[in-house]
Amino acid sequence: MLTSSCKWLEPELMDVVRLFEGAEALEIGHDTEVTGTAYENKFRLGVHEYGYRDFDLARTPLEQKSLIKRYAKLSLYRLLTEIFHKTLPWGSLTGIRPTRLAYGQIEKTGEFGELFRTLGVSEENTALVGRVIEEQRGLYEKKEGNCDLFVSLPFCPTKCAYCSFITAPIAATEQFVPAYLEALGRELETAGPLIKNLRSVYIGGGTPFVLGVKELERVLKAVSPLRKNGCEYTVEAGRPDTFTAQKLDLCRDFGVTRICINAQSFSDKTLAAIGRRHTAEDLYRAFEMAAPYPFDVNCDLIAGLTGESLGEFQWSVDEAIRLSPANITVHTLCLKKGAKLKEETARLGDGLLADMIAYSREKLTAAGYEPYYLYRQKYMAGAHENVGWTKKGKACVYNVDVMEETCDNLAVGANAISKKLFAEEARIERYGSPKDIPTYLNKIDTILEEKNKLFGSSRGSLEGEPTRRPLA
Ligand SMILES: C[S@@+](CC[C@H](N)C(=O)[O-])C[C@H]1O[C@@H](n2cnc3c(N)ncnc32)[C@H](O)[C@@H]1O
Ligand code: SF4
Repeated sequence: MLTSSCKWLEPELMDVVRLFEGAEALEIGHDTEVTGTAYENKFRLGVHEYGYRDFDLARTPLEQKSLIKRYAKLSLYRLLTEIFHKTLPWGSLTGIRPTRLAYGQIEKTGEFGELFRTLGVSEENTALVGRVIEEQRGLYEKKEGNCDLFVSLPFCPTKCAYCSFITAPIAATEQFVPAYLEALGRELETAGPLIKNLRSVYIGGGTPFVLGVKELERVLKAVSPLRKNGCEYTVEAGRPDTFTAQKLDLCRDFGVTRICINAQSFSDKTLAAIGRRHTAEDLYRAFEMAAPYPFDVNCDLIAGLTGESLGEFQWSVDEAIRLSPANITVHTLCLKKGAKLKEETARLGDGLLADMIAYSREKLTAAGYEPYYLYRQKYMAGAHENVGWTKKGKACVYNVDVMEETCDNLAVGANAISKKLFAEEARIERYGSPKDIPTYLNKIDTILEEKNKLFGSSRGSLEGEPTRRPLA
């Protein structure tokens, strides 16, 4: 429990507390004071008092608020590293997008390393962020009018135990599919005139390949008139147990450029434990099926899955590399509300997870892959990160745009979150569609109207459900 004399800082400081296992049980009091360029943070813990002083120059009130937050969090991080005798790979950084902070700092001072070191980020992670920024060169483009299109298909063959995405087994949702495809068709038709410069399309979920051939064809047909410029086109086909030659043919015929064959693990024991309902053999078969097609392939892995040993994870990394997809994404297990695994799983030792991540970084680098996007999540095991790795020149535009929030994201379907970028005002306006399918279907007229308002205007004009958020 933490209480601060500055109430708005409490949730920010709690994010730091949560980074240290066991720290939530502590009773911590906090005061902050700014005098000129000095940021003073004091903490009370039982009868002990701890004080930290930093100096920095803020030019505007907004900058000052951000520095108050920065130094309060850093001071608390220093205190907790003293108490728990350990440092963390991302130091006091709790944000989802470390690269965004780095880009902002580069704009101000020409580099970001000094800030990251001050915040306690490890040399290795600072270097990783540098490599991501380097790999994004030529793709990173902050420009009003640039847009990515996301199509949400929240249906899966079965629910995996670790997954908290809003998706449901197709057996329980099949009856909604025709109406859902109808609503998607209407959304896509309305979206056409709202898109200026389309950079990429991503049909994701869920597991798009769980749809039947005719249903998938309907979605691809509806997207076609919007993608006249032949831009990057991903279908997150997904689980290998849904792959058929007919669906791959369809994707090729509609100009899809990238698909996902997601392993999560190549260990049959792990795959059974996480309820994937497919084996490593199915993965090899899916890779073989996709090989003759002109698609770039992405393969997702997760570090920290139930009961997985270091050796099993290393095997998964080695197998993914051997299969040689254009992209390999290494997630760290993140257990949120909605994942069955949450109650069942024991926390993995930080050391084991750190070894897994170190292994993936070393092996992928040695195999010629470069990190091209990275993000962190709350509740992520061991305060680590997710990293997308790519072969040279094969980085996925959609992932870069979404992570860096440099473009509009016009997202259609249930639980789709659209974002409109107002670059000059340095802010983003979001619109989240209802998460569950029946509510989405019932509200489709309102959704069309509100998205039209958001993307049709140059200033944004929404009320109610959408949330406004300044750019960090
Ligand atoms: C939206 S899911 C769709 C993937 C597709 N349905 C499949 O399973 O093959 C995208 C990716 O998120 C990752 N993911 C899902 N739940 C996760 C969790 N709890 N922790 C870490 N990564 C997770 C998985 O690697 C998954 O492939
Ligand atoms: S990991 Fe993929 S297949 Fe499994 S439940 Fe989540 S979205 Fe569905």
